[in-house]
Amino acid sequence: MIIAVDGPTASGKGTIAKALAAHYSLPHLDTGLLYRAVGRQCAKNGGNPDSAEDALAACAFPDDLLADPELRSEVTGGLASRVSIHPPVRQALYERQRSFATQPGGAVLDGRDIASVIAPEAEAKLFVTASVEARAQRRFLEMQEQNRDVALEEIAADLAARDERDRGRKDAPLVIAEGAVEIDTSDLRREEAIAAAIAAVEAFR
Ligand code: C5P
Repeated sequence: MIIAVDGPTASGKGTIAKALAAHYSLPHLDTGLLYRAVGRQCAKNGGNPDSAEDALAACAFPDDLLADPELRSEVTGGLASRVSIHPPVRQALYERQRSFATQPGGAVLDGRDIASVIAPEAEAKLFVTASVEARAQRRFLEMQEQNRDVALEEIAADLAARDERDRGRKDAPLVIAEGAVEIDTSDLRREEAIAAAIAAVEAFR
């Protein structure tokens, strides 16, 4: 069974995807991490994330970069959203995601275009959303836990800009794929969101 979990940043899709993978004993791939690695590598190369050429060169990042904690930062998230606009970058990352999705036994993948591009044949397609306010609030609390001082308004503005870039791009924009079930986590606690996701997957079976 392939489970596709798409949605914007900080919607809870990562948490849901991880929980589904554990529940169904399936391997999980956070595809955002691949784009984050490209963004980070591009910066390390001294490249410009808005240049398709520089971004493509950064697709040859070493595998151990995926374990770099810096990949989780807001700065790297912003770079990821810029390099991910370029079609050659999406092409370069396609095969890796595609072979993960089609491995025997199935898989859970989370991202922006799993149900629309990477695995349109997925049995279960979830689109996880939450209001910008709820998502900004979550990020804010996460950052406070890490003793990082960022204003809530700044986080909300950054999320909104990233949403616009992900939705507005020509190649593989963030869309609700046909047949996907939407789960709005704005007012759900973690456990409630996971239960809703499992119920949704069960309904696909
Ligand atoms: O999900 P995450 O915030 O880690 O993704 C970082 C960025 O990578 C997103 O803003 C998006 O632009 C890009 N991305 C993408 N396609 C995916 C996953 C992530 O374009 N499948």
